[in-house]
Amino acid sequence: MVIRYDNPVLSQDELRILISSAGLAPSMHNTQPWRFEVTGRVVDVLLDEDRTLPAEDRSGRMTRIGLGAAAFNLRVTAAMLGFETTLAVDPDPDRPDVAVRIFLGSRRPTATSPIGSLYGELRRRHTYRGPLMAAVVSPLVLEQLNAAARAEGAELRWLDQYAETQLKRILHAADYLDLHDEDRLTERGRWIGGDRTRDGVPQAALGPLPARSAIVRDLAAGFDHHARSSAVFETNPRIAVLTTAADDPVAWTRAGMALQHLLLIATSYDLTVSFLNQAVEYAQLRSHVQELVGRSPRPQLILRAGYPAQTAAETPRLPWQQTLDSLVDDWHPGIVQACSDA
Ligand SMILES: Cc1cc2nc3c(=O)[nH]c(=O)nc-3n(C[C@H](O)[C@H](O)[C@H](O)COP(=O)(O)O)c2cc1C
Repeated sequence: MVIRYDNPVLSQDELRILISSAGLAPSMHNTQPWRFEVTGRVVDVLLDEDRTLPAEDRSGRMTRIGLGAAAFNLRVTAAMLGFETTLAVDPDPDRPDVAVRIFLGSRRPTATSPIGSLYGELRRRHTYRGPLMAAVVSPLVLEQLNAAARAEGAELRWLDQYAETQLKRILHAADYLDLHDEDRLTERGRWIGGDRTRDGVPQAALGPLPARSAIVRDLAAGFDHHARSSAVFETNPRIAVLTTAADDPVAWTRAGMALQHLLLIATSYDLTVSFLNQAVEYAQLRSHVQELVGRSPRPQLILRAGYPAQTAAETPRLPWQQTLDSLVDDWHPGIVQACSDA
């Protein structure tokens, strides 16, 4: 693919760094539901309708969270390159496919934002589904994860033992529903398992099967477990629910930014995270999860955190050029204004 590029704000190398870094974000089933558009100083994160999960993510919550995570990576990378940034979520009613608009402001020779220092963690972060070590996570580190979520307008609520016991029941119910929904199983089969070079979750990244009952989501539940090893999992992982005050696409996008912010902080401490989202994917169970965290916070994701006992496997990514929609050098004052006002 030949890229015509004459943007005066970013060199071609910087553009590559920016867009390829954005694509390293986590997304449900590694669908990578994003496209990017760069117009002068404006970088748009767009929804790719061809990469959604209509059966498993009917509302679009998880897809939006992925877009928010990609937007956070853009902010980290822009900060590393010295740009100040402002952003708007759902900036343009005439362009509903634009989930986040990031405006690259003035450029400084020194780092403009502390999040730029997280750039080195982008490639080190992986979802880890294997057993965790028994080592206790320091409250100081947990507080840093909380602060990262808060910085993006979300909250991380750590479950106590009672809530964890309740959650196990909810997860059990969700696993049952998951196994008996043909549409969801068919959809998952398209994205999970096997060897993969562009998207989806390859078998190597699924982690071992738990030798005994464990709090971990097996993404390949219901499929052939041929050639999967097994391992004994920890008995009491730290579990947190990521919540937001509202429950709409803007809140989901913010939750994605919060997720990626806290995941990168976690990575900087060699902590790994995996997901127990089956309990929030079903509306009837989500209300039970909500009861575990209080009346008003809206649960978006359930995270299992700890120090990995094994190595996390990588998942593939699309070539960055294929996620880039267009490169336009026009300057649109209206777009810039929308970003500055946000
Ligand atoms: C919104 C969202 C939901 C996810 N849900 C799950 C899940 O329920 N179970 C799971 O094992 N992984 C889940 N993941 C992790 C993705 O599978 C993972 O991000 C993707 O495969 C890319 O791999 P990586 O995170 O190692 O880069 C989720 C990720 C996101 C962003």
